[in-house]
Amino acid sequence: MTIETSAADLSARLQFALDAARQAGEFIMSYYQSPELSVDRKRDASPVTEADRGAEQLIRKLLADRYPNDAILGEEFGESSGTSGWRWVLDPVDGTKSFIHGVPLFGTLIGVEQEGRPVAGVCRLPALQEVIYGADGQGAWWQVANRDPRRAKVSDVSDLSQATFSTTTIQGWKRVGRQAAFERITGTAAISRGWGDCYGHALAATGRVDVMVDPLLNPWDCAAFVPILKEAGGSFVDFKGVETIYSGNGLSVNAGLKDALLEILSCDDCC
Ligand code: IPD
Ligand code: CA
Ligand code: CA
Repeated sequence: MTIETSAADLSARLQFALDAARQAGEFIMSYYQSPELSVDRKRDASPVTEADRGAEQLIRKLLADRYPNDAILGEEFGESSGTSGWRWVLDPVDGTKSFIHGVPLFGTLIGVEQEGRPVAGVCRLPALQEVIYGADGQGAWWQVANRDPRRAKVSDVSDLSQATFSTTTIQGWKRVGRQAAFERITGTAAISRGWGDCYGHALAATGRVDVMVDPLLNPWDCAAFVPILKEAGGSFVDFKGVETIYSGNGLSVNAGLKDALLEILSCDDCC
């Protein structure tokens, strides 16, 4: 495959992902704040709804029609193999706990991998009418409602004592035994907030927070953010500083704060 063909393929998949996330968002919003929304529990006791399952099915149907040879990994319906070297990583509703409480901080995440590398991503927050997206070499973008998309850019704060830190939940830090790291960050950062799930990473990619850290992540929670953060001038990495979606944790961070955060997070024993 030539580089040009590959760039065109990547653009086409990014446009497809934007459209699929838009359609998924419309579907999800038909359940949002509905008194009839029923909540089921998965094996791990986490909540799931008809909106989660239906939105993933919708995206899978679109993919089957357009890219039948691509592989898929989705939170609700698992893995299906492909032959093209491309894989879609889907989280139909990230922030289900916000969604079922009628809180608008949830989104649809679509990551696109080529030969195992995350190369494009879309995070659409339908209740906020925001979409953040990017692809390798094609920039990162932030669109609100029908306004023109603008460049998504991480902040330039480089001193943790001046920084705004966000995370999903304090319990997550406890569950993985990293309360000391949590306390060290919150004890140093200027502002700490629980603007969590995909919303926190979207805020980091657009410079509205300086760092978003989540100690508990699945591949579908973060695949979309690897290329978005990179193109926005920052990075998504695990607690050891590796760009991977498989470590079970990660942070979206600007360039100036990365080393200070990794110094705290990479050391399992020192805090
Ligand atoms: C959750 C979010 C959260 C992470 C949890 C995930 P869901 O996803 O991504 O940030 O800490 O581990 O389960 O269930 O809302 O899609
Ligand atoms: Ca998720
Ligand atoms: Ca989900």
